[in-house]
Amino acid sequence: MTSTVHVDSAPVARSGLPERHGSSSTPRSGVRLESIARSFPSAQGARDVLRGLDLDLPSGEILAVVGPSGCGKSTLLRLVAGLDSPTEGLIRIGGTAIRGTDPRTAVAFQEPRLLPWRTLEHNVALGLPRGTGRREGRERVRELLQLVGLEHAATQRPREVSGGMAQRASLARALARSPEVLLLDEPFGALDALTRLRMQDLLLEIHAAEPTTVLVVTHDVEEALYLADRVLLLRSLLEDPAADSIARTLEVPGARPRDRADRSLAELRVELLAGLGVHSPQPAQPAQPVQPAQPAQPIQPAQTTTEISS
Ligand SMILES: Nc1ncnc2c1ncn2[C@@H]1O[C@H](COP(=O)(O)OP(=O)(O)OP(=O)(O)O)[C@@H](O)[C@H]1O
Ligand SMILES: [Mg+2]
Repeated sequence: MTSTVHVDSAPVARSGLPERHGSSSTPRSGVRLESIARSFPSAQGARDVLRGLDLDLPSGEILAVVGPSGCGKSTLLRLVAGLDSPTEGLIRIGGTAIRGTDPRTAVAFQEPRLLPWRTLEHNVALGLPRGTGRREGRERVRELLQLVGLEHAATQRPREVSGGMAQRASLARALARSPEVLLLDEPFGALDALTRLRMQDLLLEIHAAEPTTVLVVTHDVEEALYLADRVLLLRSLLEDPAADSIARTLEVPGARPRDRADRSLAELRVELLAGLGVHSPQPAQPAQPVQPAQPAQPIQPAQTTTEISS
């Protein structure tokens, strides 16, 4: 029997989201990548970083992207965020092709990237959609700080709070515009192990309240299997120049919240690690049948004298 390992999240308001944000019936946008390629100039000519990438990310799905360093995970995220353009192919959000940054998407990175001279509430307010009224904005920021358990730290500045708090503020800022697509690039990578687990639970609670389509890049296979509906394993085209970028797409079984100790995920974990070049030791050889114990021989008294034959 497996035991459930659950780490309490930071205090999170489970209710109190306004209807427009809290209704899971709110239509959300899916993401579609059609034959995406991205190359960058290099001394040897154009070098493909991503190639032949086709992907359908249904609305509300959480997709984790893993792959070796340099395989193009951040590049993929930047493309979906509209911060960069593909060399080939098309990206659609909610059916429409994106051209540049899109108000329906929000991005959070490994470092919180908060403005140091602004309070947390002002930093979160920076994520509000343009044209938000002052009162409405203030109310939304208050809700978001409550959602990520930071209402008590609203007037503190980034240097006065812990790394986990700053990261929660960054997440709140990304959520401020109620994005339909949330893009996270190693969002918890700089946090200590316990804060990281809490942030994962927080993300899932937020997702349950606001079922945004999420694309999360991570190096942590456990994190991918805990958070995602599917895991996309990318390969490095440097190592495999003729291949397409997607090495595997794995469905993660089991409804969320998952049991962190779920043994049924162990195989997927091994598979993902193998895809990342980390090979688990071969399963131990079946144990040899135990030989029945021999009846104990009577102990011979130690020979203490040497017979000298004459
Ligand atoms: N603007 C750019 N100009 C030239 N090369 C770039 C540019 N952006 C990314 N690259 C190259 O593309 C490759 C993929 O970079 P990317 O940052 O997407 O990798 P990654 O998978 O996110 O790696 P990591 O896991 O280390 O964060 C790298 O070799 C990088 O040098
Ligand atoms: Mg990266």
